[in-house]
Amino acid sequence: MSEQRTALDLLRRMRRNRATPAVRSLVRETVLKVDDLIQPLFVRAGDGKPEEVDSMPGVVRHSVTTLTEECRKLEQNGIRAIAIFPCIESSRKDGVGSHAHDPGNILFEAIRSVKTATPGLAIIADVALDPYTSHGHDGLLDARGDVENDSTVDALKRLALAQAEAGADIVAPSDMMDGRVKAIRLALDAAGLQQTGILAYAAKYASAYYGPFRDAVKSGSGQSSRKLDKRGYQMDPGNVREALHEVTLDEEEGADMVMVKPAGAYLDIIRAVRGHTLLPVAAYQVSGEYAQIHAASRLGWLDYEATRDESLLAIKRAGADMILTYFAAEVATSL
Ligand code: PBG
Repeated sequence: MSEQRTALDLLRRMRRNRATPAVRSLVRETVLKVDDLIQPLFVRAGDGKPEEVDSMPGVVRHSVTTLTEECRKLEQNGIRAIAIFPCIESSRKDGVGSHAHDPGNILFEAIRSVKTATPGLAIIADVALDPYTSHGHDGLLDARGDVENDSTVDALKRLALAQAEAGADIVAPSDMMDGRVKAIRLALDAAGLQQTGILAYAAKYASAYYGPFRDAVKSGSGQSSRKLDKRGYQMDPGNVREALHEVTLDEEEGADMVMVKPAGAYLDIIRAVRGHTLLPVAAYQVSGEYAQIHAASRLGWLDYEATRDESLLAIKRAGADMILTYFAAEVATSL
């Protein structure tokens, strides 16, 4: 008996478009580009060597000198934007984050140095008080220990203004206070800084994925700061409509771009926000997302580069126009 192999009667065979690398590249819908990527960087006072952050392999706390060198390299590798976060010595922290307004604050020095060395690199400065407060919260506390909205907005406005004056191209309030975008826009305009942009952390969730970042900036002054409860201002992970409401408000208040954060566990939010606003949408692949990929690959359980690249592609596919990621520098050299 002859083995008659009958072909299935199919007009549509999806695999034809997957047959070779060349055809696959023709039909690929989402491609990551270097200029989609924003590199977050940490800076601290002093002139020492870069300090490793244990929970974020490959990420360091720079001195102003090494930060500036790193920015030159990033620019050569095609990165167009960075986000700078300060790590402040605990002796300079207090309950109201007064060091945020000290002209000697290392962040302002870092911004000036990077702007001078690499004027073409866009500098994004994070506007929040948590690097400067002893309790690690993003604002000023009221008598009950809750973050007080309006006095915090006033402090944020002054911080944003100082960052812009130091040379930040974009200020990025990450605090989730109500009304801060409007207050910052008005303050910048009144100071003649109409060209300074605002990237609003519009939908920032109260997430466990920020743990390693809190190690990196030595947030607060105790071990407990890793588990700080920020649910009184950051969003509930169960909410979607509220994210759109936040985006609408930040847009009305004058935001130039809006952000969703974290990214990987919030792809549905990125997608929804992309459909909801005409503004550019940023997504922040946060420290915990980065740490997860490193940890699993160290255990030999995931392929590092493949997982890294897939995680970024997914964020772009969900609708992000730009991605803040600790992988930016290394991915830039492989794109
Ligand atoms: C603080 C801030 C945080 C991050 C960016 N800005 C931490 C927090 O809200 O507790 C997290 C970034 C990351 O995890 O990579 N305003």
